[in-house]
Amino acid sequence: MATYGTTAPTNKAIVDWIETYRLHCQPDRIFWVDGSEAEKEHLLAEAVRNGVLTTLNQDKLPGCYYHRSNPNDVARVEQCTFICTPTKDEAGPTNNWAPPREMYEKLSGLLYGAMRGRTMYVVPYLMGPPGSPLSKVGIEITDSIYVVLNMRIMSRVGRVALDQLGHADDFNRGVHSVLDCHPDRRFICHFPQDDTIISVGSGYGGNVLLGKKCLCLRIGSYLGRQQGWMAEHMLILCVESPEGEKTYVAAAFPSACGKTNFAMLIPPAHFKGWKVTTIGDDIAWMKPGPDGRLYAINPELGYFGVAPGTNLKSNPNAMASIAKDTIYTNVALAPDGTVWWEGHDDPPPAGLLDWKGSPWTPDSTEKAAHPNSRFTAPMTNNPALAPEAHDPQGVPISAIIFGGRRATTMPLIFQAFNWIHGVYLGATMGSEMTAAAAGTIGQVRRDPMAMLPFCGYNMGDYFNHWIGIRRDLGDPPRIFHVNWFRKDANDKFLWPGYGENFRVLKWIVERCQGRGKAHETPIGWMPRYEEFDWTGLDYPREKFEQSIKIDSAEWNRELLSQTELFLQLHDRLPKELIFQRELLISRL
Ligand code: OXD
Ligand code: MN
Repeated sequence: MATYGTTAPTNKAIVDWIETYRLHCQPDRIFWVDGSEAEKEHLLAEAVRNGVLTTLNQDKLPGCYYHRSNPNDVARVEQCTFICTPTKDEAGPTNNWAPPREMYEKLSGLLYGAMRGRTMYVVPYLMGPPGSPLSKVGIEITDSIYVVLNMRIMSRVGRVALDQLGHADDFNRGVHSVLDCHPDRRFICHFPQDDTIISVGSGYGGNVLLGKKCLCLRIGSYLGRQQGWMAEHMLILCVESPEGEKTYVAAAFPSACGKTNFAMLIPPAHFKGWKVTTIGDDIAWMKPGPDGRLYAINPELGYFGVAPGTNLKSNPNAMASIAKDTIYTNVALAPDGTVWWEGHDDPPPAGLLDWKGSPWTPDSTEKAAHPNSRFTAPMTNNPALAPEAHDPQGVPISAIIFGGRRATTMPLIFQAFNWIHGVYLGATMGSEMTAAAAGTIGQVRRDPMAMLPFCGYNMGDYFNHWIGIRRDLGDPPRIFHVNWFRKDANDKFLWPGYGENFRVLKWIVERCQGRGKAHETPIGWMPRYEEFDWTGLDYPREKFEQSIKIDSAEWNRELLSQTELFLQLHDRLPKELIFQRELLISRL
């Protein structure tokens, strides 16, 4: 019989580090993850045997499995997330801070003997395409087989990561234990100076898939500032014209605002020959290239997407991506071994069990699927995957889009006057809260560059880094702001969204290629009704005017509410942003 997980790597730094944690956490055994297909089968069988996963209907959903998390553990928890820098000032006022020594001690106490009776899995993983100068290796220790199986989808694990590292010791050190999954013992801690992450007390998503938010964004943003690159909460897509001209676009939206849908957008039928392909749906690592352009890679290999609302209308490519080899978490389970969620194409099947395992009917007062229920799917399942997703050089970004979920104020689309103005737009981004993080749903919060929960250092310094990177960009991306979520007086969305967003995207592409027309307004460059191609969509001029309206009372409120963020960051806020605000006030 084949044995799995017994071959330790030859890199001494890894072996020594693991030995320290083996002695401390006292697992019954160590499992070295190699990333092979045979290993995957072995781990899946083990997870099913242990009740961590349920096998779904293999005829309808081949290779798919189902998981229910602890009901107390269903989203990222920002109040339990810490940036542990030597001084509080380095973490800044928007992060929870704890002194590194104190936090290491507390975690060390919690981790002591924590893996007794359990397996310690060691997951070497690579964020980014093999051979890319932007890619980074991490090693995650975890006592959760569910985490291992998710990491295997979300990143390049095993051999490929060890090969990239060679004998070097500059890998991110990540330690995770579910402990007893109690909210009082839940800490997601980042030690940027040590390139180290320790996460305890949770088994869910961004808290525990340490390559994702923890390394890619919090530690990544810290390293990016030191090393002259950017780690951003952005999707990356390619728009290809019928003539084969490719334009690469990165876009930042807060969690659960449709990033995955936008990254996989299908142009309306009328736009024959136009194609949108996906490079990434959540994270972009970007660095100025020798030609003065900003090059981006997607460090991830999979999609950890929100299930509710995903359907053949909102995102056909996502539906194809999750048809096989996918792990579903906290959605509802049908008796025939398929899954369902609010906003699914099919009506709810009879005999449904909700995300907690209780019988559910359409009369139930609770949701069948948790609002933050997820799919974990390999990006190679995406029919619209761009081959460039594997390109170690990355893609040159022509446009950066910022956006949020705003019922008022923010027009459908406008373009910043220049880079600094664009940085101001990103820095003052706001959005209504969603279910991706625990909090009050619906309330507007400032979420600069969609990085508020993910910036691993002082946000004021982060803005300075954005401004400073311009020096290395002879040909900077143009910056835009969009809002798909503006509503009319009857609380109805003004813009149809989904595939129709392509009309906005096409204008953005044309602006970048020096072809699109625009007119100057107090807030930026904007399109006129006739500058969009409306074929195939009955969208009246008055509605468009409403969707791009600049309402001065609303803007006064907007400017006022920006004050809060500016005051919070006052001591590190770049004066460029204060000037941008003054200029906007005077233009308005
Ligand atoms: C995510 C998030 O899971 O942003 O991508 O919360
Ligand atoms: Mn995200």
